[in-house]
Amino acid sequence: MENVCWWKGKLEIPKEGSFITLNPDKSITVPNNPIIPFIVGDGIGPEITPEMIKVVNAAVEKVYGNSKKIYWVEVLAGDKAEENGLDRMPKETLELLKQSIVSIKGPLGTPVGKGGKSLNAILRQSMDFYSAIRPVFYMGQPSPIPNPERVNVTVFRENSDDVYMAIEYMPKTEGAAKVRKFFIEEMGVSEYALPEDVGITVKPMSEYKTKRHVRKAFRYALENGKKHIAVVGKGNIMKATEGAFINWAFEVAEEDEFKGKIITEGEPGEGQARIYKVITDQMLMQLVLKPEYYDVIITQNLNGDYISDLASALVGGPGYVPSGNIGDGYALFESTHGTANDIAGKQIANPLSIILSGAMMLEYLGWKEAGNIIYQAVKSVINEGKGTPDIASGFRKMGKEATELSTSQFGDEIANKIKNL
Ligand code: NAI
Repeated sequence: MENVCWWKGKLEIPKEGSFITLNPDKSITVPNNPIIPFIVGDGIGPEITPEMIKVVNAAVEKVYGNSKKIYWVEVLAGDKAEENGLDRMPKETLELLKQSIVSIKGPLGTPVGKGGKSLNAILRQSMDFYSAIRPVFYMGQPSPIPNPERVNVTVFRENSDDVYMAIEYMPKTEGAAKVRKFFIEEMGVSEYALPEDVGITVKPMSEYKTKRHVRKAFRYALENGKKHIAVVGKGNIMKATEGAFINWAFEVAEEDEFKGKIITEGEPGEGQARIYKVITDQMLMQLVLKPEYYDVIITQNLNGDYISDLASALVGGPGYVPSGNIGDGYALFESTHGTANDIAGKQIANPLSIILSGAMMLEYLGWKEAGNIIYQAVKSVINEGKGTPDIASGFRKMGKEATELSTSQFGDEIANKIKNL
């Protein structure tokens, strides 16, 4: 593939490319020739990631001709880094990702039994990607619900707080005994709540982390004309954490930037959006029964994990949904599914999640027309009944005719559609 620096033993930075820069106000300045690093990923990664590059290049060329071009640089992580005698997350990979500000990745596996921190967790923390954003929409693919076109919701999952901070004390350890003793003796907690064999996971949630996440979601809603925003949590039970999160979100609505734009009652008018308090269990039920109720969901890390998977399932599964991890300017886009080792190397993996993540990345760069053309092309190819075996078999189950394509044929089909749109 042209203008791609594949790994040749050391990092090679394309001389014609320029780095995206981060401004003091945390916005980004994107040159016409940005350097974008990518991680191929493990398992099906080597099959799906090149299809994303192919499609993104086709979209940029179609919309901007020669006036804009991405300079791709492969950085190693996971299995491929190990095969090259490096750590699973080499220092120079993290350095280049940071220097480049915006990047994209395929799935990375966490080898069972080898220990070590998840590579995804290392990546998220290294650039403080505090919001995980998943736009879930329907493009005509096989789906498990009637009228799936009702689903068009963007889930904002807080990514830097909550039980994922891994402050944990395993049952019957010295740590658990110490924490238990503190709670019983110093804080008056009952032995009924904390029996001797208890395991303890701490759920931290802070005002600062919540508010920066909520601001990002409010800005997204206002910029994209989204009207109905659910702020979701089980605040009735976890008052100090999820309850506080909801209250902080409503406080953000009162800040100068949002006052009069993010409203708490009545019908939102032009340039406005309304926020609603929704309890998590209610939200899960409503997503299935009335997915059209909300355009944006703002929630915490653990609830966001459940909610984004359920929302994705409504349109056929995570394989059809893109995702972006966004911090203060820094952004890492990624496929939402895992490494799918059971189908790796067979050219049957569905590349849509990473292709759509590529489109989302283009939007983030401000190259919206190029992003849109990818969505259009994907929609059009799917509506012709063409796709990888998972898509084709889904169509057949619905009694529709379908053409089965390999991973790379599917990528070609989308890239060609872009050229002919
Ligand atoms: P998985 O998503 O890899 O696989 C679940 C099932 O979905 C499998 O049957 C697989 O064949 C199928 N599938 C997944 N992606 C597909 C695609 N694009 N096309 C067609 N079928 C697809 O989930 P699993 O098995 O739980 O995880 C495997 C590994 O992936 C683990 O090591 C896990 O840690 C890692 N993982 C990495 C993620 C990331 O890098 N963001 C996210 C989720 C899991």
